[in-house]
Amino acid sequence: MKELFLYYYWHIKLLAISFLALVFLIKIVVLLWCRPRRIEHHFSRQGIRGPPYRFFIGNVKEIVEMMLKASSQPMPFSHNILPRVLSFYHHWKKIYGATFLVWFGPTVRLTVSDPDLIREIFTSKSELYEKVEAHPLVKQLEGDGLLSLKGEKWARHRKIITPTFHMENLKLLVPVVAKSVIDMLEQWSAMTNSDEVEIEVSEWFQTLTEDVITRTAFGSSYEDGKAIFQLQAQQMVLAAVAFRRVLIPDTLILYSELENQRVVVAFSSFHLHAESCYGVQLTMILNESLRLYPPTIATIRRSKVDVELGGYKVPSGTEILIPILALHHDQSIWGNDANEFNPARFSGGVARAAKHHVAFIPFGLGVRTCIGQNLAILQAKLTLAILLQRFSFRLAPSYQHAPTVLMLLYPQYGAPIIFQHLSNP
Ligand SMILES: *[C@@H]1O[C@H](CO)[C@@H](O)[C@H](O)[C@H]1NC(C)=O
Repeated sequence: MKELFLYYYWHIKLLAISFLALVFLIKIVVLLWCRPRRIEHHFSRQGIRGPPYRFFIGNVKEIVEMMLKASSQPMPFSHNILPRVLSFYHHWKKIYGATFLVWFGPTVRLTVSDPDLIREIFTSKSELYEKVEAHPLVKQLEGDGLLSLKGEKWARHRKIITPTFHMENLKLLVPVVAKSVIDMLEQWSAMTNSDEVEIEVSEWFQTLTEDVITRTAFGSSYEDGKAIFQLQAQQMVLAAVAFRRVLIPDTLILYSELENQRVVVAFSSFHLHAESCYGVQLTMILNESLRLYPPTIATIRRSKVDVELGGYKVPSGTEILIPILALHHDQSIWGNDANEFNPARFSGGVARAAKHHVAFIPFGLGVRTCIGQNLAILQAKLTLAILLQRFSFRLAPSYQHAPTVLMLLYPQYGAPIIFQHLSNP
């Protein structure tokens, strides 16, 4: 009797285990195979295709291979950086068109680079889309900052810190930022023998920005209370990251190129102009740098419900990849010289520079634009303006043009620039 019971007991236990294993297996197959196939089918019926999904890994293997290959190869000094920096997009766009499906593992992303559709996602129908949670690792780096907050929590935080970034308030920071810049340049001067010095600007600007943050954030902490101070500091850091990693090195590289080639005479005699005069020109140069080298090369949104986007039916939960870099380099929007550095295209503002006003989005668009953008631009302009009064500069011979991307776009082998004292300021 007892033996019989034991026999059945083991039998039932074994059955239960295999049943659970089966359910688990089916779940995996559905999630990693059937669902992706269904999504592929859903889109291909609407004419949207893409590289075929592979079990579990999707297209990750090809993407990584393409990126490694691109970043290991040298490139000429050209602003046509899309093939190097967003190689997978550049490659598949040629095969499947600008709107295609790409699989980051079992997660699908729909690429969208049509300015009309981008406007829909960011502004006119923004309530249907949400920011995608950053990768846990990235989130740890960012902290619980504005970049990753959603919904109500985001609105509350944004409301507290927005006044800090109004132009009037930022103007108060001008002397503080200027002081940091001048201190830095004085250190450079001390390093010159003859009257030239080679500077790896990306490193120096990192230190500069940390200096500015320390001064500005701590300067206001006494009045504003601790909570606000912490939020501010966080945002300063965000603005700073964009600023130091990209804005300034790239602007200087581009500017040096101008100096080297003497292409645009008006710009090369900058330091002769009154400050008010080159304010506008500086903005044009900065905008053109941000167009060719946007710090954030792509951004992702996710549909919260089933949506219709440009006539396509996009199911709820689909991630949409917006390749900002590709938009900024699009010849159909910017003209045949889209890959050339031509600040003058901004002489009539953004509206005149491009065929579509949503073609220029270095800081995003709509309610979630980068809150630190004014600060970043202020810092960039001031740095350039003060630099130009004291130094002329050119690219160092060792400079190797190799824009690449980690979290943000940055010069892979740094940005060495030779500065020369202007004899009589
Ligand atoms: C530069 O770009 C900003 C948007 O980021 C815009 O507000 C500004 O008007 C632009 N300036 C010029 C001169 O194009």
